[in-house]
Amino acid sequence: MSDWIDIGALGDIPQRGARVVKTPLGCVAVFRTILDEVFALDNACPHKGGPLAEGIVHGSSVTCPLHNWVFSLETGQAQGADDGGVATYPARIDAGRVYLDANFLQMRAAE
Ligand code: FES
Repeated sequence: MSDWIDIGALGDIPQRGARVVKTPLGCVAVFRTILDEVFALDNACPHKGGPLAEGIVHGSSVTCPLHNWVFSLETGQAQGADDGGVATYPARIDAGRVYLDANFLQMRAAE
């Protein structure tokens, strides 16, 4: 069974914004869409390490604040870039709190 880590209230993440959470893997950006969905991705852009959490969320994508690569929040893939992509992590909302899957994070950290 999964262990879910409570990383804070949904209300603490701005709509169309993100919050950075420190994990054993480094910083994970937890995004909130206009529809109140949450998605967790690596914060560092694979291009030059731009902080994706500071990008603007549009639909289910985020645009890197440095050079405007666009990433799918669902898959982590960069659109229009051949070799770009970031890891994604399971995230869920329960009773207004946001959770990340601890087992999944540890699994990824051990790779
Ligand atoms: S660092 Fe993200 S697009 Fe360049």
